[in-house]
Amino acid sequence: MPSVTSSDGPVAVTGASGFIGAHTVIQLMKRGYDVRGCVTDTSNPDKTGFLLKLNDEHPGNVTLHQANLLEDGSYDEIFAGCSAVLHVGTPMGYGGANRPQQVYDGMIGGINNVVGSIKRSGSVKRLVYTSSFAAIGHPAPPGYRYTEADWASDNRENDANWNTKDLNDKGEVGYAYGKVEGEHLVNRLAAEDGSFDAISVCPIVVLGPLLSVVHECVGSWQYALGRTLTGKNNPRGWQALWNIVDVRDVAEAHVLIAESATCKNGDRFQLSATDESGEITVKQLQEHLQKQLPHIAVGGPPPEYDAMIEKYGKPYDAPRAHCDKARTELGLKTHPVEDTIRTTAETFIELGLVEPALKKRDGP
Ligand SMILES: NC(=O)c1ccc[n+]([C@@H]2O[C@H](COP(=O)([O-])OP(=O)(O)OC[C@H]3O[C@@H](n4cnc5c(N)ncnc54)[C@H](OP(=O)(O)O)[C@@H]3O)[C@@H](O)[C@H]2O)c1
Repeated sequence: MPSVTSSDGPVAVTGASGFIGAHTVIQLMKRGYDVRGCVTDTSNPDKTGFLLKLNDEHPGNVTLHQANLLEDGSYDEIFAGCSAVLHVGTPMGYGGANRPQQVYDGMIGGINNVVGSIKRSGSVKRLVYTSSFAAIGHPAPPGYRYTEADWASDNRENDANWNTKDLNDKGEVGYAYGKVEGEHLVNRLAAEDGSFDAISVCPIVVLGPLLSVVHECVGSWQYALGRTLTGKNNPRGWQALWNIVDVRDVAEAHVLIAESATCKNGDRFQLSATDESGEITVKQLQEHLQKQLPHIAVGGPPPEYDAMIEKYGKPYDAPRAHCDKARTELGLKTHPVEDTIRTTAETFIELGLVEPALKKRDGP
């Protein structure tokens, strides 16, 4: 299947105003693409203003288009003439915006509607689907190193929860199950159609610069980091490791996949830490932030952390995963984790999303 270039026509991005979607728009514009950014509400300035400003900063161009993943045919006009679709958006559960069943239904329904519009476009050659590490991580012993060969559906023979029954009572199961199903679905629909191929991106803990206040995403990884700048404890993922990838690297990988002449239908790329430096405990995250922002009293793990260390010696050694395939096959150059952590914190403060807990000065 031929690769896509900026002279083949526009590229559409769903979820263009979202955290990953907006960075994906930037990466396309840096390479001179005409981007059709899809948003749910073109009249919301927090979701549109920062995107339209990009037209003054990069060689490419972005226009914004209103569409809804839950409506069949919503993307027909937008995708017409496009060479590729980067399907980044999906209804998320952030801040209780959607219940687990709605997240699952939106994921699968959204894919069907996006693919329907791709087929009717007659021009789209490649679909890049934003899946998640949630579609990779499965029950495994501590220290296990995950790769693209792993599926979240592996080792589930004795897991009575691994199904779509009563999703609202089962937390994150619907998200992981939906991402596994979603990847298989895009690949099957592409194979059946034959006019485009579908490749998945599986990001893990995505951090890096926020571009708009809407990127706070209540309950997200970046949100948990942001709260620690106010001196609060970090309630998220302290029992294990934060496996960190930069949002700019996730975004660039989407574009490199669209352009790749070697990617084929069914390929998937894990976007995770570059190496051990990006696999850190919540305590180490606090130390990174404290070193880079010495004037702020950064919050750390909750009190239960110390009891866990006393009992087990260290947090659970997972998830271990490196983005080797994206680096070798796509030529992705990743950001150092220090830069990823610092820019997350700095943009939280610059956007006025947190009031940092400033350290008291000694003396008069
Ligand atoms: N952030 C992470 O750590 C992470 C990790 C792994 C995978 N992912 C995946 O990455 C993708 C983007 O996530 P994100 O973290 O960037 O979240 P986000 O900032 O909330 O972005 C999600 C986007 O989806 C769009 N959307 C939601 N419902 C929609 C609907 N009914 N119709 C059309 N668009 C809709 C939203 O559009 P509007 O703003 O226009 O409403 C929003 O821009 C998701 O597929 C997610 O599963 C994220």
